[in-house]
Amino acid sequence: MEIIGILGAGAMGSGIAQVAASRGHQVVVCDNLTPALKKSGKNLQAALATLVDKGKMTNAESDALFGKIQYTDHMSDFRDCSVVIEAIVEDIELKRIAFKGVEAMVSGDTIIGSNTSSLSVSAMGAQLKHPERILGIHFFNPAPLMRLVEIIPALQTAPPIIERARTLIDSWGKTTVLAKDTPGFIVNRVARPYYGESLRILEEGIADVPTIDWAMRELGGFRMGPFELMDFIGNDINYTVTETVFRSFYFDPRYKPSFTQKLLVNANYLGKKTGRGFYDYRPGAATPEPLRDEALGRQIVTRVVAMLVNEAADALYLSVANRDDIDLAMTQGVNYPKGLLAWADEIGIENIVSQLDWLHAEYCDDRYRCCRLLRIMAREKRTFY
Ligand SMILES: NC(=O)c1ccc[n+]([C@@H]2O[C@H](COP(=O)([O-])OP(=O)(O)OC[C@H]3O[C@@H](n4cnc5c(N)ncnc54)[C@H](O)[C@@H]3O)[C@@H](O)[C@H]2O)c1
Repeated sequence: MEIIGILGAGAMGSGIAQVAASRGHQVVVCDNLTPALKKSGKNLQAALATLVDKGKMTNAESDALFGKIQYTDHMSDFRDCSVVIEAIVEDIELKRIAFKGVEAMVSGDTIIGSNTSSLSVSAMGAQLKHPERILGIHFFNPAPLMRLVEIIPALQTAPPIIERARTLIDSWGKTTVLAKDTPGFIVNRVARPYYGESLRILEEGIADVPTIDWAMRELGGFRMGPFELMDFIGNDINYTVTETVFRSFYFDPRYKPSFTQKLLVNANYLGKKTGRGFYDYRPGAATPEPLRDEALGRQIVTRVVAMLVNEAADALYLSVANRDDIDLAMTQGVNYPKGLLAWADEIGIENIVSQLDWLHAEYCDDRYRCCRLLRIMAREKRTFY
Protein backbone atom coordinates (compact mmCIF):
# COMPACT_ATOMS: atom_id res chain seq x y z
CA MET A 1 0.00 0.00 0.00
CA GLU A 2 1.35 3.44 -0.90
CA ILE A 3 2.41 5.72 1.95
CA ILE A 4 0.73 9.12 1.72
CA GLY A 5 2.27 12.36 2.94
CA ILE A 6 0.19 15.38 3.90
CA LEU A 7 1.83 18.78 4.39
CA GLY A 8 -0.29 21.05 6.61
CA ALA A 9 -2.38 19.76 9.51
CA GLY A 10 -5.19 22.31 9.23
CA ALA A 11 -8.83 21.67 8.37
CA MET A 12 -8.09 20.24 4.91
CA GLY A 13 -4.85 18.37 5.64
CA SER A 14 -6.46 16.65 8.63
CA GLY A 15 -9.52 15.67 6.60
CA ILE A 16 -7.48 14.29 3.70
CA ALA A 17 -5.31 12.32 6.15
CA GLN A 18 -8.47 10.75 7.61
CA VAL A 19 -9.70 9.77 4.14
CA ALA A 20 -6.36 8.15 3.19
CA ALA A 21 -6.01 6.30 6.51
CA SER A 22 -9.60 5.06 6.32
CA ARG A 23 -8.64 3.41 3.00
CA GLY A 24 -5.77 1.55 4.66
CA HIS A 25 -2.80 3.81 3.87
CA GLN A 26 -0.03 4.71 6.27
CA VAL A 27 -0.16 8.52 6.42
CA VAL A 28 2.53 11.00 7.42
CA VAL A 29 1.10 14.38 8.45
CA CYS A 30 3.66 17.18 8.67
CA ASP A 31 3.09 20.71 9.97
CA ASN A 32 5.62 23.29 11.10
CA LEU A 33 3.53 24.12 14.17
CA THR A 34 3.38 21.54 16.98
CA PRO A 35 0.03 22.88 18.32
CA ALA A 36 -1.50 22.35 14.87
CA LEU A 37 -0.37 18.71 14.91
CA LYS A 38 -1.78 18.19 18.39
CA LYS A 39 -5.08 19.80 17.42
CA SER A 40 -5.30 17.69 14.27
CA GLY A 41 -4.82 14.47 16.26
CA LYS A 42 -7.36 15.52 18.89
CA ASN A 43 -9.95 16.49 16.28
CA LEU A 44 -9.50 13.18 14.48
CA GLN A 45 -9.96 11.25 17.71
CA ALA A 46 -13.15 13.21 18.42
CA ALA A 47 -14.45 12.56 14.89
CA LEU A 48 -13.69 8.84 15.21
CA ALA A 49 -15.38 8.68 18.63
CA THR A 50 -18.53 10.13 17.05
CA LEU A 51 -18.42 7.45 14.32
CA VAL A 52 -18.04 4.76 17.01
CA ASP A 53 -20.99 6.24 18.96
CA LYS A 54 -23.12 6.18 15.82
CA GLY A 55 -22.20 2.52 15.26
CA LYS A 56 -20.41 3.33 11.99
CA MET A 57 -17.13 1.76 13.17
CA THR A 58 -15.87 -0.31 16.09
CA ASN A 59 -13.38 0.84 18.71
CA ALA A 60 -10.79 -1.50 17.21
CA GLU A 61 -11.31 0.00 13.72
CA SER A 62 -11.04 3.51 15.13
CA ASP A 63 -7.77 2.64 16.93
CA ALA A 64 -6.40 0.99 13.79
CA LEU A 65 -7.23 4.04 11.68
CA PHE A 66 -5.67 6.45 14.18
CA GLY A 67 -2.61 4.21 14.44
CA LYS A 68 -1.98 4.62 10.70
CA ILE A 69 -1.27 8.33 11.05
CA GLN A 70 2.16 9.63 12.04
CA TYR A 71 2.30 13.30 13.09
CA THR A 72 5.62 15.03 12.55
CA ASP A 73 7.26 18.42 12.14
CA HIS A 74 10.07 17.02 9.94
CA MET A 75 9.56 16.87 6.20
CA SER A 76 12.27 14.20 6.09
CA ASP A 77 9.58 11.78 7.30
CA PHE A 78 8.08 12.03 3.79
CA ARG A 79 11.05 10.01 2.44
CA ASP A 80 9.03 6.83 1.77
CA CYS A 81 5.86 8.53 0.52
CA SER A 82 4.81 7.89 -3.07
CA VAL A 83 2.35 10.81 -2.96
CA VAL A 84 2.57 14.02 -0.92
CA ILE A 85 -0.43 16.35 -0.85
CA GLU A 86 0.22 19.91 0.26
CA ALA A 87 -2.54 21.70 2.23
CA ILE A 88 -0.78 24.67 3.82
CA VAL A 89 -1.97 28.30 3.75
CA GLU A 90 -3.15 29.73 0.42
CA ASP A 91 0.01 31.70 -0.35
CA ILE A 92 1.93 31.07 -3.57
CA GLU A 93 5.35 32.01 -2.17
CA LEU A 94 4.96 29.80 0.91
CA LYS A 95 3.72 26.94 -1.25
CA ARG A 96 6.67 27.31 -3.65
CA ILE A 97 9.13 27.17 -0.75
CA ALA A 98 7.30 24.19 0.75
CA PHE A 99 7.35 22.31 -2.57
CA LYS A 100 11.09 22.75 -2.92
CA GLY A 101 11.44 21.38 0.61
CA VAL A 102 9.25 18.38 -0.19
CA GLU A 103 11.09 17.69 -3.44
CA ALA A 104 14.41 17.57 -1.59
CA MET A 105 13.06 14.80 0.69
CA VAL A 106 11.23 12.45 -1.67
CA SER A 107 12.18 10.13 -4.52
CA GLY A 108 12.13 11.20 -8.16
CA ASP A 109 8.76 9.64 -8.96
CA THR A 110 6.83 10.80 -5.89
CA ILE A 111 3.70 12.68 -6.95
CA ILE A 112 3.46 16.14 -5.40
CA GLY A 113 -0.11 17.41 -5.22
CA SER A 114 -1.53 20.72 -4.04
CA ASN A 115 -4.93 21.22 -2.47
CA THR A 116 -4.97 24.88 -3.55
CA SER A 117 -8.43 26.39 -4.14
CA SER A 118 -7.38 29.15 -6.47
CA LEU A 119 -3.65 29.40 -7.15
CA SER A 120 -1.97 28.37 -10.39
CA VAL A 121 -0.56 24.85 -10.11
CA SER A 122 1.80 25.53 -13.04
CA ALA A 123 3.28 28.47 -11.13
CA MET A 124 3.93 26.24 -8.13
CA GLY A 125 5.83 23.76 -10.27
CA ALA A 126 7.99 26.33 -12.06
CA GLN A 127 10.97 26.02 -9.72
CA LEU A 128 10.93 22.27 -9.16
CA LYS A 129 13.63 19.97 -10.53
CA HIS A 130 10.91 17.56 -11.69
CA PRO A 131 7.83 19.70 -12.35
CA GLU A 132 6.28 16.86 -14.40
CA ARG A 133 5.11 15.22 -11.13
CA ILE A 134 3.17 18.17 -9.72
CA LEU A 135 -0.61 18.58 -10.04
CA GLY A 136 -3.61 20.00 -8.22
CA ILE A 137 -5.62 17.53 -6.09
CA HIS A 138 -8.43 19.73 -4.83
CA PHE A 139 -10.62 18.27 -2.09
CA PHE A 140 -13.69 20.07 -0.73
CA ASN A 141 -14.46 20.80 2.89
CA PRO A 142 -15.05 18.59 4.87
CA ALA A 143 -12.84 16.18 2.94
CA PRO A 144 -14.17 12.97 4.58
CA LEU A 145 -17.75 13.85 3.55
CA MET A 146 -17.48 15.66 0.22
CA ARG A 147 -17.10 13.24 -2.67
CA LEU A 148 -15.71 15.55 -5.31
CA VAL A 149 -12.00 15.98 -5.98
CA GLU A 150 -10.82 18.20 -8.84
CA ILE A 151 -7.64 16.94 -10.52
CA ILE A 152 -5.74 19.83 -12.08
CA PRO A 153 -2.72 19.02 -14.23
CA ALA A 154 -0.15 21.80 -14.45
CA LEU A 155 1.23 22.74 -17.84
CA GLN A 156 4.27 20.63 -16.89
CA THR A 157 2.47 17.50 -15.59
CA ALA A 158 3.27 14.21 -17.34
CA PRO A 159 0.12 12.27 -18.45
CA PRO A 160 1.00 9.08 -16.45
CA ILE A 161 1.08 11.20 -13.27
CA ILE A 162 -2.49 12.36 -13.94
CA GLU A 163 -3.60 8.75 -14.36
CA ARG A 164 -1.78 7.57 -11.22
CA ALA A 165 -3.26 10.35 -9.11
CA ARG A 166 -6.76 9.83 -10.46
CA THR A 167 -6.67 6.08 -9.91
CA LEU A 168 -5.48 6.57 -6.34
CA ILE A 169 -8.11 9.17 -5.42
CA ASP A 170 -10.87 7.16 -7.14
CA SER A 171 -9.81 4.17 -5.01
CA TRP A 172 -10.59 6.32 -1.93
CA GLY A 173 -14.27 6.37 -2.99
CA LYS A 174 -14.07 9.89 -4.37
CA THR A 175 -15.41 11.22 -7.67
CA THR A 176 -12.61 12.87 -9.63
CA VAL A 177 -13.09 15.42 -12.38
CA LEU A 178 -10.39 16.84 -14.60
CA ALA A 179 -9.99 20.64 -14.76
CA LYS A 180 -7.64 22.92 -16.66
CA ASP A 181 -5.25 25.04 -14.60
CA THR A 182 -7.40 28.20 -14.84
CA PRO A 183 -8.65 30.51 -12.06
CA GLY A 184 -11.10 28.77 -9.72
CA PHE A 185 -10.83 25.50 -11.72
CA ILE A 186 -14.44 24.25 -12.15
CA VAL A 187 -16.37 24.73 -8.92
CA ASN A 188 -14.92 27.97 -7.63
CA ARG A 189 -15.38 29.53 -11.07
CA VAL A 190 -18.80 28.23 -12.08
CA ALA A 191 -20.33 28.88 -8.63
CA ARG A 192 -19.38 32.58 -8.52
CA PRO A 193 -22.76 33.89 -9.81
CA TYR A 194 -24.61 32.01 -7.06
CA TYR A 195 -23.15 34.53 -4.65
CA GLY A 196 -22.42 37.46 -6.99
CA GLU A 197 -25.82 37.68 -8.68
CA SER A 198 -27.68 37.17 -5.41
CA LEU A 199 -25.66 40.01 -3.90
CA ARG A 200 -26.57 42.24 -6.88
CA ILE A 201 -30.25 41.42 -6.47
CA LEU A 202 -29.95 42.37 -2.78
CA GLU A 203 -28.02 45.57 -3.50
CA GLU A 204 -30.61 46.66 -6.07
CA GLY A 205 -33.34 46.25 -3.46
CA ILE A 206 -35.23 43.69 -5.57
CA ALA A 207 -35.53 41.37 -2.55
CA ASP A 208 -34.05 41.02 0.92
CA VAL A 209 -31.70 38.32 2.28
CA PRO A 210 -34.32 35.84 3.61
CA THR A 211 -36.46 36.17 0.48
CA ILE A 212 -33.55 35.45 -1.89
CA ASP A 213 -32.51 32.48 0.28
CA TRP A 214 -36.10 31.22 0.37
CA ALA A 215 -36.43 31.51 -3.42
CA MET A 216 -33.18 29.68 -4.17
CA ARG A 217 -33.97 26.94 -1.64
CA GLU A 218 -37.69 26.39 -2.02
CA LEU A 219 -38.17 27.25 -5.69
CA GLY A 220 -34.65 26.64 -7.04
CA GLY A 221 -34.08 23.41 -5.09
CA PHE A 222 -30.64 24.42 -3.76
CA ARG A 223 -29.73 22.90 -0.41
CA MET A 224 -28.77 26.27 1.09
CA GLY A 225 -29.65 29.80 0.04
CA PRO A 226 -26.71 31.96 -1.12
CA PHE A 227 -26.59 34.12 2.02
CA GLU A 228 -26.81 31.27 4.50
CA LEU A 229 -24.14 29.53 2.46
CA MET A 230 -21.83 32.59 2.50
CA ASP A 231 -22.34 32.84 6.28
CA PHE A 232 -21.53 29.13 6.57
CA ILE A 233 -18.39 29.28 4.42
CA GLY A 234 -17.30 32.52 6.09
CA ASN A 235 -17.67 35.88 4.34
CA ASP A 236 -13.92 36.46 4.60
CA ILE A 237 -13.13 33.22 2.75
CA ASN A 238 -15.91 33.63 0.18
CA TYR A 239 -14.96 37.27 -0.48
CA THR A 240 -11.26 36.39 -0.89
CA VAL A 241 -12.03 33.64 -3.41
CA THR A 242 -14.19 36.06 -5.44
CA GLU A 243 -11.52 38.73 -5.31
CA THR A 244 -8.80 36.26 -6.36
CA VAL A 245 -10.89 34.97 -9.27
CA PHE A 246 -11.77 38.58 -10.31
CA ARG A 247 -8.10 39.59 -10.33
CA SER A 248 -7.01 36.40 -12.08
CA PHE A 249 -9.52 37.05 -14.88
CA TYR A 250 -8.04 40.51 -15.45
CA PHE A 251 -11.01 42.23 -13.78
CA ASP A 252 -13.75 40.67 -15.89
CA PRO A 253 -17.01 42.28 -14.58
CA ARG A 254 -18.62 38.83 -14.39
CA TYR A 255 -16.62 38.14 -11.23
CA LYS A 256 -16.74 41.58 -9.62
CA PRO A 257 -16.78 41.33 -5.81
CA SER A 258 -19.52 43.05 -3.81
CA PHE A 259 -19.19 46.10 -1.54
CA THR A 260 -21.95 44.67 0.63
CA GLN A 261 -19.93 41.55 1.39
CA LYS A 262 -16.73 43.59 1.83
CA LEU A 263 -18.51 45.73 4.43
CA LEU A 264 -19.49 42.61 6.36
CA VAL A 265 -15.88 41.42 6.29
CA ASN A 266 -14.67 44.86 7.48
CA ALA A 267 -17.13 44.74 10.38
CA ASN A 268 -15.98 41.19 11.28
CA TYR A 269 -19.47 39.92 10.41
CA LEU A 270 -17.89 36.78 9.00
CA GLY A 271 -20.94 34.55 9.42
CA LYS A 272 -21.65 31.69 11.77
CA LYS A 273 -18.11 31.59 13.14
CA THR A 274 -18.32 35.16 14.54
CA GLY A 275 -22.02 35.05 15.45
CA ARG A 276 -23.03 37.61 12.80
CA GLY A 277 -23.04 37.71 9.04
CA PHE A 278 -25.97 38.29 6.73
CA TYR A 279 -27.94 36.75 9.59
CA ASP A 280 -27.65 37.22 13.34
CA TYR A 281 -26.62 33.95 15.06
CA ARG A 282 -26.41 35.29 18.60
CA PRO A 283 -28.59 33.53 21.18
CA GLY A 284 -32.13 34.88 21.14
CA ALA A 285 -31.78 36.69 17.80
CA ALA A 286 -34.95 36.67 15.71
CA THR A 287 -35.01 34.77 12.38
CA PRO A 288 -36.20 37.16 9.65
CA GLU A 289 -39.10 35.92 7.54
CA PRO A 290 -39.01 35.82 3.72
CA LEU A 291 -41.67 37.51 1.61
CA ARG A 292 -42.75 34.19 -0.01
CA ASP A 293 -43.92 35.97 -3.18
CA GLU A 294 -43.78 33.24 -5.79
CA ALA A 295 -43.60 35.55 -8.84
CA LEU A 296 -40.70 37.46 -7.29
CA GLY A 297 -39.05 34.20 -6.21
CA ARG A 298 -39.22 32.76 -9.74
CA GLN A 299 -37.71 35.96 -11.14
CA ILE A 300 -34.78 35.63 -8.72
CA VAL A 301 -34.19 31.94 -9.51
CA THR A 302 -34.41 32.54 -13.28
CA ARG A 303 -31.80 35.31 -13.11
CA VAL A 304 -29.33 33.48 -10.87
CA VAL A 305 -29.65 30.15 -12.71
CA ALA A 306 -29.21 31.87 -16.11
CA MET A 307 -25.96 33.38 -14.84
CA LEU A 308 -24.79 30.01 -13.47
CA VAL A 309 -25.58 28.26 -16.76
CA ASN A 310 -23.72 31.00 -18.64
CA GLU A 311 -20.65 30.36 -16.49
CA ALA A 312 -20.88 26.57 -16.92
CA ALA A 313 -21.29 26.92 -20.70
CA ASP A 314 -18.31 29.27 -20.87
CA ALA A 315 -16.18 26.77 -18.92
CA LEU A 316 -17.16 24.12 -21.48
CA TYR A 317 -16.61 26.47 -24.45
CA LEU A 318 -13.13 27.38 -23.20
CA SER A 319 -12.24 23.70 -22.49
CA VAL A 320 -11.82 24.13 -18.73
CA ALA A 321 -13.50 20.72 -18.40
CA ASN A 322 -15.84 18.44 -20.32
CA ARG A 323 -19.64 18.46 -20.08
CA ASP A 324 -20.00 15.54 -17.69
CA ASP A 325 -17.25 16.75 -15.37
CA ILE A 326 -18.74 20.26 -15.18
CA ASP A 327 -22.14 18.86 -14.19
CA LEU A 328 -20.64 16.31 -11.78
CA ALA A 329 -18.48 18.98 -10.15
CA MET A 330 -21.46 21.18 -9.33
CA THR A 331 -23.73 18.39 -8.09
CA GLN A 332 -21.07 16.67 -5.98
CA GLY A 333 -18.77 19.55 -5.05
CA VAL A 334 -21.45 22.04 -3.99
CA ASN A 335 -24.59 19.86 -3.93
CA TYR A 336 -26.47 21.67 -6.71
CA PRO A 337 -29.86 20.06 -7.36
CA LYS A 338 -28.99 19.43 -11.03
CA GLY A 339 -26.02 19.69 -13.32
CA LEU A 340 -26.15 23.19 -14.82
CA LEU A 341 -25.82 22.02 -18.44
CA ALA A 342 -28.56 19.42 -17.98
CA TRP A 343 -30.64 22.15 -16.33
CA ALA A 344 -30.05 24.42 -19.35
CA ASP A 345 -31.56 21.75 -21.61
CA GLU A 346 -34.57 21.53 -19.31
CA ILE A 347 -35.13 25.29 -19.18
CA GLY A 348 -34.45 25.65 -22.92
CA ILE A 349 -31.20 27.16 -24.10
CA GLU A 350 -33.07 29.85 -26.08
CA ASN A 351 -34.80 30.93 -22.84
CA ILE A 352 -31.45 31.26 -21.07
CA VAL A 353 -30.10 33.33 -23.99
CA SER A 354 -33.19 35.60 -23.92
CA GLN A 355 -32.80 36.15 -20.16
CA LEU A 356 -29.10 37.01 -20.52
CA ASP A 357 -29.71 39.27 -23.52
CA TRP A 358 -32.45 41.08 -21.62
CA LEU A 359 -30.11 41.64 -18.64
CA HIS A 360 -27.31 42.78 -20.97
CA ALA A 361 -29.54 45.29 -22.77
CA GLU A 362 -31.13 46.52 -19.54
CA TYR A 363 -27.88 47.05 -17.57
CA CYS A 364 -25.49 47.76 -20.48
CA ASP A 365 -23.00 45.76 -18.42
CA ASP A 366 -20.54 43.26 -19.88
CA ARG A 367 -21.17 41.10 -16.82
CA TYR A 368 -24.32 39.84 -18.57
CA ARG A 369 -22.76 38.98 -21.94
CA CYS A 370 -24.02 35.65 -23.21
CA CYS A 371 -21.50 32.85 -23.79
CA ARG A 372 -21.02 32.28 -27.52
CA LEU A 373 -21.64 28.56 -27.16
CA LEU A 374 -25.15 29.18 -25.80
CA ARG A 375 -25.90 31.55 -28.67
CA ILE A 376 -24.73 29.04 -31.28
CA MET A 377 -26.67 26.22 -29.61
CA ALA A 378 -29.86 28.29 -29.41
CA ARG A 379 -29.54 29.19 -33.10
CA GLU A 380 -28.95 25.58 -34.12
CA LYS A 381 -31.56 24.25 -31.65
CA ARG A 382 -28.98 21.96 -30.05
CA THR A 383 -28.98 20.60 -26.50
CA PHE A 384 -26.11 19.64 -24.20
CA TYR A 385 -27.40 16.08 -23.74
N1 LIG B 1 -10.88 25.34 4.16
C1 LIG B 1 -11.51 25.08 3.04
O1 LIG B 1 -12.74 25.15 2.95
C2 LIG B 1 -10.71 24.64 1.84
C3 LIG B 1 -11.35 23.89 0.83
C4 LIG B 1 -10.59 23.45 -0.25
C5 LIG B 1 -9.26 23.80 -0.37
N2 LIG B 1 -8.67 24.56 0.62
C6 LIG B 1 -7.24 24.86 0.47
O2 LIG B 1 -6.50 23.96 1.29
C7 LIG B 1 -5.33 24.60 1.81
C8 LIG B 1 -5.34 24.53 3.32
O3 LIG B 1 -6.50 25.12 3.80
P1 LIG B 1 -7.00 24.93 5.31
O4 LIG B 1 -8.35 25.54 5.40
O5 LIG B 1 -6.78 23.52 5.74
O6 LIG B 1 -5.93 25.85 6.07
P2 LIG B 1 -5.61 25.91 7.65
O7 LIG B 1 -5.23 27.31 7.91
O8 LIG B 1 -6.69 25.26 8.44
O9 LIG B 1 -4.31 24.96 7.80
C9 LIG B 1 -3.07 25.25 7.22
C10 LIG B 1 -2.00 24.51 8.02
O10 LIG B 1 -0.76 24.60 7.32
C11 LIG B 1 0.27 24.79 8.28
N3 LIG B 1 1.41 25.38 7.58
C12 LIG B 1 1.53 26.62 7.10
N4 LIG B 1 2.72 26.76 6.47
C13 LIG B 1 3.35 25.55 6.58
C14 LIG B 1 4.60 25.06 6.10
N5 LIG B 1 5.42 25.82 5.40
N6 LIG B 1 4.93 23.78 6.40
C15 LIG B 1 4.09 22.98 7.09
N7 LIG B 1 2.88 23.41 7.54
C16 LIG B 1 2.52 24.67 7.28
C17 LIG B 1 -0.34 25.66 9.36
O11 LIG B 1 0.36 25.54 10.57
C18 LIG B 1 -1.76 25.09 9.42
O12 LIG B 1 -1.84 24.06 10.38
C19 LIG B 1 -5.32 26.00 1.22
O13 LIG B 1 -4.57 26.01 0.05
C20 LIG B 1 -6.81 26.24 0.92
O14 LIG B 1 -6.99 27.19 -0.11
C21 LIG B 1 -9.36 24.97 1.72
